[in-house]
Amino acid sequence: MGVYVVTGSASGMGASVAARLTDDGHEVIGVDLADAAVIADLSTVEGRRGAVDALTERIDGPLHGAVFAAGIGPRRGRERMLAEVNCLGVVELATALRPRLAAARNAKVVVFGSNSSTATPLVPRAAIRRLLDGDAEAAARILRRRPGALSGPAAYAASKIAVARWARRQAVTEAWAGAGIRMNVISPGPVMTPLLQGQLANPRSPVRSFPVPIRESGRPDQLAEWVMTMLSPAADFMVGSVVTVDGGTEALLRPNDW
Ligand code: NAI
Repeated sequence: MGVYVVTGSASGMGASVAARLTDDGHEVIGVDLADAAVIADLSTVEGRRGAVDALTERIDGPLHGAVFAAGIGPRRGRERMLAEVNCLGVVELATALRPRLAAARNAKVVVFGSNSSTATPLVPRAAIRRLLDGDAEAAARILRRRPGALSGPAAYAASKIAVARWARRQAVTEAWAGAGIRMNVISPGPVMTPLLQGQLANPRSPVRSFPVPIRESGRPDQLAEWVMTMLSPAADFMVGSVVTVDGGTEALLRPNDW
């Protein structure tokens, strides 16, 4: 049985994945703001450092997998927090855990992106570049210049584009693929969790008019099923892929992008 780290393990899709892994007999080290083995606030440098210290102290052997599901939804005014939690909260923890993952020889990593990465128009490229440089404040400054209601969705999309791009760039390198680690991105559409409920409660949220061809939201367990496959030997030949599971939105909006 393996050892797995799951961030965002206290709610939604992270909780669903953690439950599946535990049911299968694995040891799960959850990371979250509350109700987790490691309590940490991934929106601050100190919080991320504390999480890394606590995790490296707890994991004394190989780490068989990591699922980075902690995240917050779009909202104007939290451009920097979106950058820190959704992007740096993955990049910094994954980088720190890489040696333990390499020690497992065939570890799997799943990063939570979002289909808003491709569905959101006019995401400033400079903000994505700043995020990839690790500069959340510089990215947030650019994103705050977006007019009114656009800055929240743009900040969310920027955080998810940056984290997916980081994962794809790293996934193929000697340090990751060469060390037997298979890192991939899952890109959900609207899934009924507290995060989505929070978005739907805002009458001006663009997610309310998001077109979903199957006309229903996903369930956390449906996404957890895909994540379990991406953690299994079925993913041995899968590197840097972005798996979209979104009820058809991506295909509806971008049918000709393949
Ligand atoms: P959720 O709100 O149910 O769970 C997110 C978890 O992350 C919570 O337990 C929360 O406490 C934790 N978290 C938030 N901020 C944190 C911080 N500063 N430090 C540590 N933990 C923190 O959300 P859900 O929907 O399960 O989201 C999981 C992932 O899926 C997120 O990355 C989200 O962006 C992504 N996603 C969600 C979609 C949806 O419709 N629900 C759609 C596309 C992507």
